[in-house]
Amino acid sequence: MGVNIAMVDLKTQYLRLKTEIDAAISAVLESSRFIGGKEVTRFSERLCAYLNVQHSITCGNGTDALQIALMALDLRPGDEVIVPAFTYIAPVEVIALLGLKPVLVDVKPDTFNIDPDVLVAAINSKTKAIIPVHLFGQSADMASIMNIAKKHGLKVVEDNAQSIGTRFEGKHTGTLGDIGCISFFPSKNLGAYGDGGALTTNDSGLAARLKSICSHGQYSRKYYHDEIGVNSRLDALQAAILNVKLGHLDDFVAARRSVAAAYDKALNDVADITIPFRTASSTHVFHQYTLKIKAGKRDALKAYLSEQGIPSMIYYPMPIYTQRAYTNEFPATIHLPVTEQLCQEVLSLPMHTEMTEDQIEYIIHHVKQFFS
Ligand SMILES: Cc1ncc(COP(=O)(O)O)c(C=O)c1O
Repeated sequence: MGVNIAMVDLKTQYLRLKTEIDAAISAVLESSRFIGGKEVTRFSERLCAYLNVQHSITCGNGTDALQIALMALDLRPGDEVIVPAFTYIAPVEVIALLGLKPVLVDVKPDTFNIDPDVLVAAINSKTKAIIPVHLFGQSADMASIMNIAKKHGLKVVEDNAQSIGTRFEGKHTGTLGDIGCISFFPSKNLGAYGDGGALTTNDSGLAARLKSICSHGQYSRKYYHDEIGVNSRLDALQAAILNVKLGHLDDFVAARRSVAAAYDKALNDVADITIPFRTASSTHVFHQYTLKIKAGKRDALKAYLSEQGIPSMIYYPMPIYTQRAYTNEFPATIHLPVTEQLCQEVLSLPMHTEMTEDQIEYIIHHVKQFFS
């Protein structure tokens, strides 16, 4: 069978949206307004409307968004920020870069998201903030996290890089804590054609700080700097592309959900596979479709799929505390069993908006074949 399967197929998606995208890019080229301008303003306004949030501040990428969010919270060197151990490196990296202390906690084995019970146990007098990461497209337990944060006077920065469009108890992720951080990396559910990011908040004071920090700490007057900031902005070409793609985001999510439903149906009864768990309180936008494979079989399955021309990915292969760059950040005794087990068991299958029935069938056939 002639299948050509990608983890993410941005080319086919572009070809489907080509007329709209090319027109949007041409308009920016014609205007020659490459930084700021109406596309950026319009995207920011439309993002607020989509997420039902009061403020959105666009920036250079999702990692910048996390750094800028922490800068706006006025944390001091040594302050502790709690973050899940099973995640992408970005939130931990920015905590460390700012001279803050990352405190890693374990995640829940079913949702892969931060476990509120162990989170409470990690709080002490130095704890100032929590960064829940809404991993793979499903919200962390924001009701419990916000209760804990309120009780202990902690700030909450949601890492919403992977979950734009997800709703927790009806509300969009990224709008429940103090600040939400989004990534528009090309393969994200709402992806630009380069880097991009945004911060979301319902707090007007914080919105002003975030905007200023993104722009070298200039509050209102150009060349007057009230605090030390950074240079982080979404450019007009990316904003124009995102304006087109935002109009399709609900369809993108629907396409991802239908791929997930087909995988679920076919793989649910395979004894060595656990399909992605859904909590009752969150929707799932399937940034990734991540299986748990019975211990010892995951790597062989990955190799077998690769031989059949089927890509798959391990998000994430190592707990953050075992990464070489971070060994001095954490106690040598740290041992988070769920994270360690997930690093051995997870495997993400191809998931994107352009998958054909033939491709899905081919993938399912070979996954089942491996276990037969
Ligand atoms: C959970 C998480 N946080 C942060 C980021 C950083 O986003 P970016 O690549 O746009 O800097 C990513 C994406 O790569 C991510 O998956």
